[in-house]
Amino acid sequence: MFDPYLSGDPDATPIELVGKAGFEQWVSRQSEGDRHAIAQQGFAAQPGQHCWLPGEGRVAAGWDGKSSLASLGGLPLALSGGVYRMAHDVDELQLLGWGLGCYQFARYKDPSRSPARLVLPVGAPRERLANLVGAVTLARDLINTPAGDMSPTQLADEASQVADTHDAECRIVTGDDLLTEGFGAIHAVGRAAADPPRLVDVRWGEPGRPLVAVVGKGVCFDSGGLDIKTAAGMRTMKKDMGGAAAALGLAQLIMAQELPVRLRLLIPAVENAIAGNAYRPGDILDTHAGITVEVDNTDAEGRLILCDALSLAAEEQPELIVDFATLTGAARVAVGTEVSAMFSNDQAVAADIADSGRAVDDPVWPMPLHDGYSHLLHSKVADTLNSASTPHAGAITAALFLQKFVRTCPWVHFDIMAYNVRNRPARPEGGEAMAMRAVFRYLEDRFGR
Ligand code: BES
Ligand code: MN
Ligand code: ZN
Repeated sequence: MFDPYLSGDPDATPIELVGKAGFEQWVSRQSEGDRHAIAQQGFAAQPGQHCWLPGEGRVAAGWDGKSSLASLGGLPLALSGGVYRMAHDVDELQLLGWGLGCYQFARYKDPSRSPARLVLPVGAPRERLANLVGAVTLARDLINTPAGDMSPTQLADEASQVADTHDAECRIVTGDDLLTEGFGAIHAVGRAAADPPRLVDVRWGEPGRPLVAVVGKGVCFDSGGLDIKTAAGMRTMKKDMGGAAAALGLAQLIMAQELPVRLRLLIPAVENAIAGNAYRPGDILDTHAGITVEVDNTDAEGRLILCDALSLAAEEQPELIVDFATLTGAARVAVGTEVSAMFSNDQAVAADIADSGRAVDDPVWPMPLHDGYSHLLHSKVADTLNSASTPHAGAITAALFLQKFVRTCPWVHFDIMAYNVRNRPARPEGGEAMAMRAVFRYLEDRFGR
């Protein structure tokens, strides 16, 4: 993997961040030759702009004056390749932005150039930055890889490789064994695909530590099932394992950083496909929790695979259950593509994670588990419907469905986009580990040494 960071290089080009506020003053302090270069390059310290100062060989980069991933995140692929260093202090978040801005998805064609590298300031947490970049890169690569090369088997392999690297236990329940073990919902959703459904169950950490369960929606492709999606609706559905990618990235980060917790990672991995044995609207499923579910819509498959995994997680009464899922289009209508919708049965936890998200530039926004909408999931013939017949409050009714399966455990659910729909500094178009760093910061604050 490309390493964005170096420890030292005497020839590194210094970069200065220049805000609009002090711009005129800053210009007046430059040599005459550099002032000429600034004017010639039209540099006005706008974020995203940079300029070459030939005098002593420096770069000035425009900056909005705030610490964020964007401060340095646009530079690695905007500056010409080579080695740079900061001319003044920047913080960890800004350094991370550089690393995240180096990402290129190179599996199917060679990128046209390599990113510029940054010499880290003395004392910078190099390993921690590398672990954060590594976790985000893993999630992005998994999401960007099309379903043809990211089947349930392949997603499960990726999880088991991460587990191996950190000496974690990994158990995988596959195909009809899911039925024997009571995971009727995971089986029903995945059974029509050529590659059988499975549940990945990873455990890590010494006994006696607080248990944290992390769950991710691993729908490797979502055709909608018999309630088939439109062509436009299906086009982006290779990313429907984005929750699993964020969960696996978080697990890797927790293990690499040796957070003193006990971790359980659960990834139900399926393809929501269409065949003669596909599950149908109206079918009634036996779930692991013993709750019967009437299928209103086969396109509401994510909550079905999650409900079995969440109920398994809840059996052990963890300190916290966190799930990530590309669960509803309604969440995107509510908060758009750049904010993660957050639901929790514990308002203090939700408030703390919202703060963590702000601190690490990974925005999450609290949404209501409004009990008044529970009747929308009422089934005449089973304990519950999998989806409401109205699109209103679609993200909320999906979360209310999941809530039935976590019992009384403290639980946070993220309905995420998992994809950058446009290029932004440190956030290249394509797969993204949304809400992952917000949760990691929260876990560090709560359980860290
Ligand atoms: N994976 C989709 C949700 C999705 C769609 C996320 C587009 C991001 C962008 C999910 O499985 C789904 O199809 N949800 C349905 C639920 C409905 C049938 C109740 C939806 O949101 O339309
Ligand atoms: Mn769907
Ligand atoms: Zn889906």
